[in-house]
Amino acid sequence: MISTTESTVETIEWTREGVVMIDQTRLPRETVFVTCRNYGEVADAIRNMVIRGAPAIGVAAAMGVALGALQSNHLDADVPVICETLARTRPTAVNLFWAIERMKQVYASVRHLAPEEIRARLVAEAKKIREEDIAINEAIGRNGAPLVPDGKTVLTHCNAGALATAGFGTALGVIRAAVGMGKNIDVFADETRPFLQGARLTAWELQRDGISTTLITDNMAGHFLKSGRIGCVVVGADRIAANGDVANKIGTYGVAVLAKENNVPFYVAAPLSTLDLTLASGEEIPIEERAAREVTHVQGVPVAPEGIAVANPAFDVTPNRYVSAIITERGIARAPYGESLRSLFHGIL
Ligand code: MRU
Repeated sequence: MISTTESTVETIEWTREGVVMIDQTRLPRETVFVTCRNYGEVADAIRNMVIRGAPAIGVAAAMGVALGALQSNHLDADVPVICETLARTRPTAVNLFWAIERMKQVYASVRHLAPEEIRARLVAEAKKIREEDIAINEAIGRNGAPLVPDGKTVLTHCNAGALATAGFGTALGVIRAAVGMGKNIDVFADETRPFLQGARLTAWELQRDGISTTLITDNMAGHFLKSGRIGCVVVGADRIAANGDVANKIGTYGVAVLAKENNVPFYVAAPLSTLDLTLASGEEIPIEERAAREVTHVQGVPVAPEGIAVANPAFDVTPNRYVSAIITERGIARAPYGESLRSLFHGIL
């Protein structure tokens, strides 16, 4: 992996040199871009959170498959191995598996063609997934912006912004679209321990956009939700089960319960590729357990005694009863989610 510094900020791009990503582990201190030159480096970048956020890791995986195919002289033998390696990086965000499956299907449909043509089709598909993601997020923004109360504060958790997607963002896309339609809103960003996606990434990208943002620690959310100042909560999602249960960054569940307790609407903004209709409920969603060091250390500095036992689930599941609406590119789903999500997914609504 090669690092460079640049002024433009794109989450992920396909270039002639390889797959270029902004290194999200180094923000906001440094704006550094890394170039992944083979699919193994893309897999490492996903596993190590150089790129993170459900839609963004889907795009990265698709580009990883394309990159692997470009460098393979035995496509039939190598493509399944490449897909398997990328699929083993992170278990919770279903967009990763959705994107790999889409690449597998393209491969199956062009297998009979000349290797050069197969590689070209896979590269084109990966680029298309990236472009589509930006358009999808803009549609989510358009659909969600009317739900955001004017003159109030929006609370968000983790980073569901441009950095977590190919661009614009899901939850932050709704906020951007609301600001774009002239609403007078400001944002409270939970810092999102232990990985600090809120402090490091959401605060950084909203500040760059000139959207008024206040950073709070996670344990302050209840205080502000009770104060009457928060008009709604908007978060992203990593996987949504058929019944509308939502897996998202650890801490989301607590925010959702506190929102309901204080009659504040709790919205989830996500593309339909985040839906997993094969899972009846959120109890079936695999939850990633990450390294203890993310909890015992803050930016490399120890904050706990050596040898202490640590739990570090990266996600939690918010039961559907706490979710006021799920905002997708095709429209808004409300309870009962079993019905409304299926209708949106099959394009009925
Ligand atoms: O562990 P991360 O940083 O990949 O977790 C990201 C989240 O939980 C986001 O809220 C989610 O992926 C939605 S991103 C549009």
